[in-house]
Amino acid sequence: MCGIVGYTGSNPALSRVIEGLRRLEYRGYDSAGVALALTKGEKLVVEKKAGKLANLEGALNGGHENATGGIGHTRWATHGGPTDINAHPHLDESGKLAVIHNGIIENYEELKAELERRGHKFKSETDTESVAHLLGEEFKASGDLATAMRSVCARLRGSFTLLAIQSDNPNLIVGARRNSPLVVGVGSGENFLASDVSAFISHTKKALELGQDQVVVVTPNEVVVTDLAGKTVTPKEYEITWDAKAAERGGFEHFMLKEIYEQPKAVADTLLGRFPTPSTIELKELENISGNFQRILILACGTAYHAGLIGKYALEEWAKIPVEVELASEFRYRNPVISEQTLVITISQSGETMDTLMALRHAKSLGAQTLSICNTMGSTIPRESDSVLYTHAGPEIAVASTKALLTQVIALDLLALYLASKRSSITSNRTKEIIDALLQLPNKIEEILETVEPLRAMTRGYKNATSVLFLGRHVGFPAALEGALKLKELAYMHAEGFAGGELKHGPIALIEEGTPVIAILPPAKSEIAEKMRSNVQEVRARGARVIAIADQSHSLDLPELIRIPESEEILQPILSIVPLQVFAYEMAVARGNDVDQPRNLAKSVTVE
Ligand code: AGP
Ligand code: GLU
Repeated sequence: MCGIVGYTGSNPALSRVIEGLRRLEYRGYDSAGVALALTKGEKLVVEKKAGKLANLEGALNGGHENATGGIGHTRWATHGGPTDINAHPHLDESGKLAVIHNGIIENYEELKAELERRGHKFKSETDTESVAHLLGEEFKASGDLATAMRSVCARLRGSFTLLAIQSDNPNLIVGARRNSPLVVGVGSGENFLASDVSAFISHTKKALELGQDQVVVVTPNEVVVTDLAGKTVTPKEYEITWDAKAAERGGFEHFMLKEIYEQPKAVADTLLGRFPTPSTIELKELENISGNFQRILILACGTAYHAGLIGKYALEEWAKIPVEVELASEFRYRNPVISEQTLVITISQSGETMDTLMALRHAKSLGAQTLSICNTMGSTIPRESDSVLYTHAGPEIAVASTKALLTQVIALDLLALYLASKRSSITSNRTKEIIDALLQLPNKIEEILETVEPLRAMTRGYKNATSVLFLGRHVGFPAALEGALKLKELAYMHAEGFAGGELKHGPIALIEEGTPVIAILPPAKSEIAEKMRSNVQEVRARGARVIAIADQSHSLDLPELIRIPESEEILQPILSIVPLQVFAYEMAVARGNDVDQPRNLAKSVTVE
């Protein structure tokens, strides 16, 4: 996955492109590069540097003010290491045409061999360079960059967003997409192309959605979209509702911390307008879904997968529908038994995760009805689903997902409650109780965040631990998995989440003197509360240092205890996960790691 920006207009292209790259750097930060077109026929200015965007900015050192067309790229390497040479843009044989790419060209070896036979010399180890050379050849043949792009795309296998610029026509940029994202920002006297709208929201709120296998030609005053056969298509236009400010850090040291603190609002916004009366729920988005499904299958990756695992409990308990949750990347390669009686729910913050998108397509091809829970309007997964339930978390920039997860769980809870009331599987009194509990969550999250300082101080005391274990049962188990994932990705520590009851079946062997164990206790009235308390004793007896997360219903005598407000058992992860996020955040800071851009990761994984 990479961040891609293209600009053409009367303003200096370089500053617009760099600004866009800065907002997209969360998508990849192995290297960054730009190609700028100056006046007609003059050579393109190409600069690219391994490492973060700051390295590129240093190498550019301002200048190139007169360029009014340009493309820029921040990379997450798939083919070839993160070096200057492998950084994008890549040039064709003539050196007059530059290409940037997000995705994987699966048949690049075949194309490269063919081009080498015709005398082309390759400089990098990337799959992308073969596209640049092929496009150069096609451009030489037709003299038209869009025609050349259409012929090239027809020959490519895999996933791509491509942008190309050619020095003979400095104000024209051609883009194309298949399975990877590309949006157009329509300005006045200037136009943008980007992987997502955050790259240009400070300049325009008007965007165009591009469909699969479409090619777009952008000049300062015109945007023309065609399919691969050259037939003009009218792209869907929409207004971006995000504010540019929402994508900035707003005084917080890191985006992740800002996003943790935005959770009360994100949860409140996701609940907004759902309850016409205190005991009824409305989900207009579900009107396209026929109510006759017999089972639900949830597909997602990473943190979104954990949201699915948590949501399963509410769907089964309230709506009485059997639910399975599966990793999207695994589901694709099975022959699952699916019919139109199966509702497949994909969950994705970005709406662009390739594994989830492919799983959605697989499910559709097997006849399932599809619903997506997504945070990014107009992205590919919701576009390809029968229905969408948008979460309203606002832009999530930090690589580690926080507010998106809480809102995904809320969306699943809303769905569970909606289906329960449709199927009359709970009483209206019980519905009212749950609605009350949901509406209290934003204030309760706020309360946790107001009292989080002692947890931050305590976390620093574990800075040198080699491994941290997380224990939970029932809904607390997926919460434990999420706590461990956050710690791995941010603190680069070994961390694992276990179901309390499984301890004795193996994991307890990991406990030694001083091993930190974070235990999530269910409310005291839960039928598994006693069992979980026993699990805590079992690990303490073997030398573990237990940090317990528990509400006031427990009287516990533990040196390290994090209190959370009381809530419904099924809703507890929305509260218990907040201290786990803070723990991972603080640990990353204490260990000197890059919180917002952890090593080897990128925000949305648009490759398989
Ligand atoms: C979580 O902190 C991750 N960085 C990652 O697991 C993420 O949740 C996963 O890649 C799915 O992304 P999506 O929600 O955009 O599909
Ligand atoms: N495959 C290209 C490269 O490795 C693009 C990578 C991506 O989009 O993640 O440079």
